[in-house]
Amino acid sequence: MLELTQKEFDGLRIYIRNICGVAIPDTKSYLVQQRLEPLVKASGSSTFTEFYQKVISDRGSLYRDSLITAITTNETFFFRDGHPFVAFEKTVLPMLGALIKQKKAKGGVLKRPLVRIWCAASSTGQEPYTLAMLVYEYARANAFQNIDVEDFGILASDISPPVLLKAKAGEFTEAELARGLSVERKKKYFTRLGEVWKIHDYLRTLVEYRRVNLIEAFGFLGTFEVVFCRNVLIYFNLETKRKIIEKFRAVLTEPGILFLGSSENLYGLSDGFDSQQTGLTVYYRKKGVSAC
Ligand SMILES: C[S@@+](CC[C@H](N)C(=O)[O-])C[C@H]1O[C@@H](n2cnc3c(N)ncnc32)[C@H](O)[C@@H]1O
Repeated sequence: MLELTQKEFDGLRIYIRNICGVAIPDTKSYLVQQRLEPLVKASGSSTFTEFYQKVISDRGSLYRDSLITAITTNETFFFRDGHPFVAFEKTVLPMLGALIKQKKAKGGVLKRPLVRIWCAASSTGQEPYTLAMLVYEYARANAFQNIDVEDFGILASDISPPVLLKAKAGEFTEAELARGLSVERKKKYFTRLGEVWKIHDYLRTLVEYRRVNLIEAFGFLGTFEVVFCRNVLIYFNLETKRKIIEKFRAVLTEPGILFLGSSENLYGLSDGFDSQQTGLTVYYRKKGVSAC
């Protein structure tokens, strides 16, 4: 095992916080040791300091990206926690449907998608594809009301390039599908391709993927009716969380809905949202937007 000195640990965690926001507590040097040691060895370095020098002088940012991927946690699964997706389906999608109908009724030139959903920190795609399935099902069930799948746009983003590559491919193992996906939806939306199951193209192409670092500016992405940002804020410190929430507030437009992870909330982070409860789910609504 390579030694990680206190000085190296402190230097690395400051660097990590600066590049991706992940705040590593004093007690977690073992985490840096475990997750980065394979990279240190693979880079041909004999110490963490030598590896760090390579990371900061690497123009192509390959080392930097592999460090980010190693230090972040990508745990995710389909329909994670269940109830937030019931809330999305039963409460939020009807609001979006009403908005779509309003926009269509106004007439004029309509720029599609008419509503946009952003899955920030999407990891390997299970969360945005969960949303894509629900959007697809809602649009099909409401086609008689002139609601179309193409009225919806889903943007999925993450900081980690390999995670995004996997998400884009839309291929999952049997074990990954078994985590949260019903047998009916597996049959309906996936085709077996040897060892993996591939999501059908009409769902895959509903989701656009981009690399976005949440600690950087993201106003260039445009506006969104709904933002899902689940199970990533827990890794950031208070100041970073506040800044990110403020940036979400800025990009949210009517009905201005924000979903966080089940163990996350806006307490002490922002007074720019009202919390809303439906069933077991608490979601947030930007203050000052009109109701649909
Ligand atoms: C635990 S996963 C959550 C995935 C999904 N949202 C869910 O709840 O199942 C956290 C994701 O956040 C991403 N992440 C960490 N720091 C990030 C940052 N600064 N910007 C964007 N994504 C980040 C990681 O790469 C990882 O894929």
